[in-house]
Amino acid sequence: MSQELNKFSKTLTQEVSNPAAQAMLYAIGMKEEDMAKPQIGIASTGYEGNPCNIHLNGLSVHVKKGIQSNDMIGLIFNTIGVSDGMTNGNDGMSYSLPSRDIIADSIENVVSAQWYDGLVAVVGCDKNMPGAIMAMARVNRPAIMMYGGTVRSGSWKGKKLDIVSAFEAYGQKIAGTISDEDYKGVIQNSIPGQGACGGMYTANTMASSIEAMGLSMPYSSSYPATHEGKVKECDDLGKAMKNLLAKNILPRDIITRKSLENALTIVMALGGSTNAVLHYIAIAHDAGIELTYADIQAISDRTPFIADLKPSGKYYMEDILALGGVPAVMKYLLKEGMIHGDCITVTGKTVAENLEEAPDLDFESQNLIRPLSNPIKSSGHIQLMYGNLAEKGGVAKITGKEGMRYEGVAKVCDKEEAMLEAFAKGEIKEGQVVVIRYEGPRGGPGMPEMLKPTSAVMGAGLGDKVALITDGRFSGGTHGFVVGHIAPEAYEGGTIALVKDGDIITIDADSRELILHVSDEELAERRKTWKPLTPPFIEHGVLRKYFKNVSPANEGCVTDK
Ligand code: FES
Repeated sequence: MSQELNKFSKTLTQEVSNPAAQAMLYAIGMKEEDMAKPQIGIASTGYEGNPCNIHLNGLSVHVKKGIQSNDMIGLIFNTIGVSDGMTNGNDGMSYSLPSRDIIADSIENVVSAQWYDGLVAVVGCDKNMPGAIMAMARVNRPAIMMYGGTVRSGSWKGKKLDIVSAFEAYGQKIAGTISDEDYKGVIQNSIPGQGACGGMYTANTMASSIEAMGLSMPYSSSYPATHEGKVKECDDLGKAMKNLLAKNILPRDIITRKSLENALTIVMALGGSTNAVLHYIAIAHDAGIELTYADIQAISDRTPFIADLKPSGKYYMEDILALGGVPAVMKYLLKEGMIHGDCITVTGKTVAENLEEAPDLDFESQNLIRPLSNPIKSSGHIQLMYGNLAEKGGVAKITGKEGMRYEGVAKVCDKEEAMLEAFAKGEIKEGQVVVIRYEGPRGGPGMPEMLKPTSAVMGAGLGDKVALITDGRFSGGTHGFVVGHIAPEAYEGGTIALVKDGDIITIDADSRELILHVSDEELAERRKTWKPLTPPFIEHGVLRKYFKNVSPANEGCVTDK
């Protein structure tokens, strides 16, 4: 190994003083000449159980080849992944957000215990990506995230489909507006194969914004899972990692306030998931940077929403590649002074240098990305809401398509199941603000997503007639008039716990207020008899630990605070 490469090698330093480690490395097939090479941990969240992750172990093998061919040792290890698409609407959803922190903890654990010099994380689903980036920020050794890629769209009877089509078909089934044949056709054909859920949902939101932040290679978020560009990306990673090691460019050099702003600007411009708020606060926490709701609101205020992507729009993530990919969008935003060009990235170059070769967006030949002069909405769709119903904030997704103000009558549901039961009985009606509570980080526990309720509402054609608020989360696939992440959560005695059926609630996206029209005196009266709905008693295990340690939603739901 060259002096240039080994001067930062932690592995080498540790193993020289530990002959047992060397003996073990011989036992796994390494040769004497390999002993002085940097060791790169390749963390894969690959598993067979869902399309977002099924191909990741295969990609990891390609990554390893790219590492080995650049005179380093690649060592693949696995960590867990949980599919939100599969856990939505059932008890398993409580485990989804905690999985982010388990992924972060487990990658941190292996990379730190094994003294790896560098880390490549091969990830592909909602929690995999923030989990991997949190680990990178913690261990702070040269690191690159490799995204498994978006899935292609499915189709049934000529109509393009994706995961949300399946959930919305459920709403149509309940409403009696879909035939049995079409219901089955949608379910069987909405996802054609490997890759992450295909709209600007949480996985694609995190992939594109992490690319903008500089921790994945250019185009990483734009190549679909089955595109040949994914294999090329694996090959290129080896060279990039060698350069990061030689120059000792570390994740905390890449994750900075400016690069977090770049990431969140991409989230706003592309209409990304509300989950990004939670995840970037957690990533910033692990990078030692304070990122607040006020910071995120400021980015939303100055960033027009310009992408006509699912869930609220027409196009899929796979369509972005044809117009130049995320780099073309970034190049446009850079030219318009919307992103910082001087942030360092995993290529060893700055954002601006990476974008020199990217194509220019052509606004004549496509209408997926609109010019800033003609946006879908003149500011970001993510709005941080406050009021007596959300004293520590709530996160709204307001695309403008459903209007900017909603006032309605509260329909209270303790837990998601109660809402689905009410929906099935036809009790969810026009003019209501459906309140789904006791779904927060502690009360859930695990702050489950409410994709099934929102999809049911959309599928039943009530999307612009019903609003939905919760102390739980929303899936990136959610659209409609929704406010989530309400803090303090019901279990902690937030005002959301005191709402009664029939109360009037106003959601005003212009003034960013979430108001329960009940007097302070009446709320104080209700509080006297309030008792928290006890979450299912959890005696031990991961949810017990989560329940005990998790921070509130406005602090990113981190578990090490
Ligand atoms: Fe994995 Fe949607 S469930 S990306």
